[in-house]
Amino acid sequence: MNSTVKFEITKRFLAAKGQPVSGQQLASEFGLSRTAIWKHVKELEEEGFSIETVKKKGYVLTASPDTLQAVKIDQYLTTKRFGRNIHYQVTCPSTQPIAHQLAQTGVADGTVVICEEQTAGKGRLARPWTSTQGKGIWMSVIIRPDIPPTKAPQFTLVAAVAVARAIEDIAKVRAEIKWPNDLLINGKKCTGILTELQADIDRVHSIILGIGVNVNQQQSDFPEEIQSIATSIQMAAGHPVDRAKLVASILHHLEIYADMYVKHGFEPLKILWESYSCTLGKRIKAIMVHEVIEGIALGITNEGILQIKSDDGQIHGIYSADIEIQK
Ligand code: BTN
Repeated sequence: MNSTVKFEITKRFLAAKGQPVSGQQLASEFGLSRTAIWKHVKELEEEGFSIETVKKKGYVLTASPDTLQAVKIDQYLTTKRFGRNIHYQVTCPSTQPIAHQLAQTGVADGTVVICEEQTAGKGRLARPWTSTQGKGIWMSVIIRPDIPPTKAPQFTLVAAVAVARAIEDIAKVRAEIKWPNDLLINGKKCTGILTELQADIDRVHSIILGIGVNVNQQQSDFPEEIQSIATSIQMAAGHPVDRAKLVASILHHLEIYADMYVKHGFEPLKILWESYSCTLGKRIKAIMVHEVIEGIALGITNEGILQIKSDDGQIHGIYSADIEIQK
């Protein structure tokens, strides 16, 4: 949660950007003794923050750990709702079931579940999702839009645009969207999105947007079987990327685009989505459970359906498939 005393104290330290923060001032501000403040400082040190005590001046934060705890993300947050409630765990099987449970307790729109490592991360079609400790962003965002269930699948596309924009803003790397839910850099996957729903027949209760971004992996950090198809932002940018900054940027764009979608529909976002697409105009193979369709990807409809023109001139609407882009 984003509002404990320790959270507020850490926020002050981070905001001071290396300048001293007076222990006395913190004590009177939070109505605590100086010993209580000192205990919080000790706890922060145990969590990996480096804090020096400067005589007569106070505490100076000299380094903070590379983690995604709420306070690290909060320092960069520009949103009104998204990420204002963050549930952080160092490790968990998957952030998705935790988010599903929280959604049922009625948590706020834009609540985030995030961790450093998933031991049973899941992808689409129950595939495993590798979530190496401290290297990526493994998060589920709970969204509560007032829309019918038929309008929910487009949230995958909305999220894909938000992540692509954030990667571009923070890492200056251009990712491409492979319909419906993959982000690729130089043809290799760096992001996957898993959209799950809690809904009645006519009303969405929550959308659980599971977002997995490979940020700071080296090639050898990926299991051998996916090394030829997976990549990270660091591998493309040539330097490590601040994960907390990237999370804040994803949430920034996601809040804007989610609101835009709910208010104006998919049309204004379609143009953006198309500008990042690596699928459109290409010859592709859409592999579905019972059928494979080959042809040219013409575009997506306002409903997010991919349209393919097969060699016999027929136009097919694809709702969900694995896509292979042909050379
Ligand atoms: C895919 O490409 O198949 C979707 C991958 C989604 C991975 C994310 S990581 C955070 C969230 N928790 C999970 O277990 N999966 C999603």
